[in-house]
Amino acid sequence: MNQMGTEQTDRKHNIPRHIAVIMDGNGRWAQKRGLPRTAGHRAGMKTLKQTVRWCVDTGVEHLTVYAFSTENWKRPGDEVSFLMNLMIEMMKREIEELDRKGVKICVLGDLEPVPEGTREAIRQGVERTAGNTTLQLNIAFNYGGRQDILQAVRRIASEGVPPAEITEETFGNFLYTEGIPDPDLVIRTSGELRISNFLLWQIAYAEIVIADVLWPDFDRAEFDRALSAYGSRRRRYGGLDDDNR
Ligand code: FPP
Repeated sequence: MNQMGTEQTDRKHNIPRHIAVIMDGNGRWAQKRGLPRTAGHRAGMKTLKQTVRWCVDTGVEHLTVYAFSTENWKRPGDEVSFLMNLMIEMMKREIEELDRKGVKICVLGDLEPVPEGTREAIRQGVERTAGNTTLQLNIAFNYGGRQDILQAVRRIASEGVPPAEITEETFGNFLYTEGIPDPDLVIRTSGELRISNFLLWQIAYAEIVIADVLWPDFDRAEFDRALSAYGSRRRRYGGLDDDNR
């Protein structure tokens, strides 16, 4: 095989270490079927469970999902409560299977305003799966990229870190994603071309794939399409391709 061919084969097998997902379109999926928006979130939860399985199957190490943003409090009270309860359900009803698969759960975000029942379920789920190593599922919950950066800045200031010691690396240690490698691939469903305040610092060099389906319709074929799109990209990190150097 010539050099070009080898390169292409390698890229095809290039699995992202960290995938971050903006699970968009639950509400529209439900409305299209004449169902309440909450039915879309329930269907979205099913897709999330499947996505965890596909990530385990393909050897992805980190999956970060945007489950509740700092802006989502503006939604009607019953939808907010539903999402808070869905989180409890995930931490209780799904935890057995996630644990068996070796999934370690982490939650990124400010849990202070989150109702105590949801906080307690999160604590238990995180504790139960803390020793797992197959896949780390990071659930962004009451998360906002700007809020993440601000809380890091506040902690740096309150700890009196000398300015010369604030580097990209040390700054990263103050973010909710401390110790988690930056996402290689961001997938957003529902065809929208926005980042919506998700992991603003961390996705500086991530590849972005927009899937033109609503989140509950995101299936294995769409997942594989996103992986192969990622595999065919040339990541330059601001530099040049090897063959242009
Ligand atoms: C965005 O779609 C989706 C959310 C705000 C919630 C995502 C939640 C899940 C996929 C279920 C798993 C959740 C937990 C808590 C574990 P949207 O409702 O904004 O869709 P729309 O743009 O069509 O209205």
